[in-house]
Amino acid sequence: MRRLLRETRVAPADLIQPLFVVSGSNVDRPISSLPGQSHVSADVAAGLAARAQARGVGGMLLFGLPDSKDEQGSSAWDDAGPVQTAIRAIRTQAPGLPVLTDVCLCGYTSHGACGVLRDGDVDNDATLPLLARVALSHARAGADAVAPSDMMDGRVAAIRSAFDGEGLEDVAIFSYSSKFASAFYGPFRDAAGSAPKSGDRKGYQLDPANAREAVREALLDAAEGADALMVKPAMPYLDLIARVRDASPLPLAAYQVSGEYAMLEAAAAAGALDRRTAILESLTAIRRAGADLVITYWASEAAEWLD
Ligand code: PBG
Repeated sequence: MRRLLRETRVAPADLIQPLFVVSGSNVDRPISSLPGQSHVSADVAAGLAARAQARGVGGMLLFGLPDSKDEQGSSAWDDAGPVQTAIRAIRTQAPGLPVLTDVCLCGYTSHGACGVLRDGDVDNDATLPLLARVALSHARAGADAVAPSDMMDGRVAAIRSAFDGEGLEDVAIFSYSSKFASAFYGPFRDAAGSAPKSGDRKGYQLDPANAREAVREALLDAAEGADALMVKPAMPYLDLIARVRDASPLPLAAYQVSGEYAMLEAAAAAGALDRRTAILESLTAIRRAGADLVITYWASEAAEWLD
């Protein structure tokens, strides 16, 4: 009876698993800042994807760690890069599993900024064609959706028009529309090798104090042609999930980020709370706030519990 009366459900298909991919084969290197997560090569990624698909997970979100970096982040659009290679491997071994890719330059630039620099600052408009090039390279490799996380103005429109010109209209754009300049990305920057060499990302990511601006950003991305919107991080921003849900009819994803994961894992390891109950409660809360989809490092594991 309790289940019949329950307002909010969490199903494996609502969950998206992030994955860090590197070059090589048979690589499975644990990430110390994210206990339980690994840097994996394309072959290992494909195996994980097949397992996730069998458990009913909604999709995979790929982050790449390139072999080399430069000022422009040019390895991000290398058709033989780790992300492009992993997409093709997953397509082969888990053909039914949606593959999403993170589109940003911060893991690929020598300076660690999310775009190209001019006089030490990110040049928004000069970055747009490069992001479109990365997105195109992922789409051509077979990605079902790209997820731009750079927060440059106009990137959704730039990617959408690049896709339209290439007959890739079916590739979705999951925009990280309301992304805050958050301390909760700490473990990720270590895992992705994407910490800025100097400064911070407050110039293009949202001030944690600004809710109305976050809704405005979401509506702008919707107008540019985004297929889905995103709020990130999730738990400290449940109010924004609810507000964006009300403001736009588009599908909404929430990203339960690395710091949220690390925080809960540390508390569970210290015996301060029951790990499984706390994880499932956190996922339920994010869904209850209004997220259709949750991007979470626990996706594959939680899917097994929920099955
Ligand atoms: C890249 C990007 C970041 C995350 C996702 N994409 C880091 C950042 O913006 O600094 C964070 C994800 C996480 O913390 O789990 N721009």
